[in-house]
Amino acid sequence: MFPRVRLRRLRRTERLREMVAEASLSVRNLVYPVFVDESIERRVPVESMPGQWRLPVGELPALAEELVSLGIPAVMLFGIPAEKDARGEVSVKPEGVVQRAVRTLKRAAGDELLVITDVCLCEYTTHGHCGIVEGREVLNDPTLEILARQAVSHAEAGADVVAPSDMMDGRVAAIRQALDDAGFERVAIMSYSAKYASAFYSPFRDAARSAPAFGDRRSYQMDFRNAREALREVEMDAAEGADIVMVKPALAYLDVIARVRERFSLPVAAYNVSGEYAMLKAASAAGWLDERAAVLEVLTAIRRAGADVILTYHALEAARWLEEVR
Ligand code: PBG
Repeated sequence: MFPRVRLRRLRRTERLREMVAEASLSVRNLVYPVFVDESIERRVPVESMPGQWRLPVGELPALAEELVSLGIPAVMLFGIPAEKDARGEVSVKPEGVVQRAVRTLKRAAGDELLVITDVCLCEYTTHGHCGIVEGREVLNDPTLEILARQAVSHAEAGADVVAPSDMMDGRVAAIRQALDDAGFERVAIMSYSAKYASAFYSPFRDAARSAPAFGDRRSYQMDFRNAREALREVEMDAAEGADIVMVKPALAYLDVIARVRERFSLPVAAYNVSGEYAMLKAASAAGWLDERAAVLEVLTAIRRAGADVILTYHALEAARWLEEVR
C-alpha cells in the first residue's frame, strides 16, 4: 500500500484533522456532580479533590447561574445530612438536604438546568452501607422499599432524573413502579448499572462522609475482573425500565463502556469518578501533566469509547476550555 497510501496526509493541518475527527466533546455531554451539606453555612473545600467543595443549599442559586452561563446542562446531587440513622430514613424527608437542594436549583434555573439526584443510602446511614444492614449482611429486598420512597421524594421536590447508585438487584423496577404509582411517569431513571467496587471512590467517600463503617461494598458492587457480567447488569436494568445506563468508574473501564455501547441502544453515561479527578489534579499540581490537555484527552476518550454523557468534576473547567477552543 505504502507509498500510495499515507495516513499522515489527513493529519497535516488542524482543519483536516477537525474534518475527519471521529469523536467529539461538547459541554452538552457533561454533568457536574455537586455535594450539598446540610450542616454548613459556607462552602468547605474537599481536601482530596482540589477545586471541589461541599456547598450549603444557600450557595446553589449562584452555582446554577454559573452552570447555565457555561452551557452545562445538568447537575448530579449528593446530599450530606446533618444526622444519619440505621435505615437512612432521613433521606426521604421532604425537608431533607437533597429535597431542599432540588427545589432551590429548580427555582433558580427552571428548565435551563436538569437536576439529577443520586439515590442511595450510604450518605444517610450510620454504618455507611448502601442498603439496610442486618448483622454484617447488606439486605437486598428490604432496601428496595426505602430506595423507592427516596426516589419519589426527589421527584416530588422536582428532580428531572433519579440515579440509583446502590447496586441492589431489582431497584430499577421498584423505583419505576413507585414513580409511576405516584404520577411521576415523566421522571427518568439513569441507573448506575455497571458500578464496580473500586479503589477510585475514596475522595468521594471523604467528601460525602460515606465510607462503610465495616467491611466493603464487594457484596453488591461489581468485581473489577468482570465485563460480561456488566452486560447482564445493563440488560436487567434496561428490562426493568432504565432510561439511561451508566458505567462507573470510566477510565479503567473503557472496554466496558465500548461493549455496552455496541450491545445496547440505550444512552450510555460514564462516571469519571473522584479518584480519576484526584489523579489528574495531583499530577498537574506537581507540574507533571498539562492539566487542560490531559483532561480534554481523557474526556474525549470516554466519548470515543461510546459514552453519550460524562459525569465529571472537571465539568466547569472543561466547559471553559471548550469555549476557548471555539
Ligand atoms: C454511592 C456513590 C458513590 C459514588 C457515587 N455514588 C460512592 C460509593 O459507591 O462508595 C462515587 C463517586 C465518585 O467517586 O466520584 N452513593
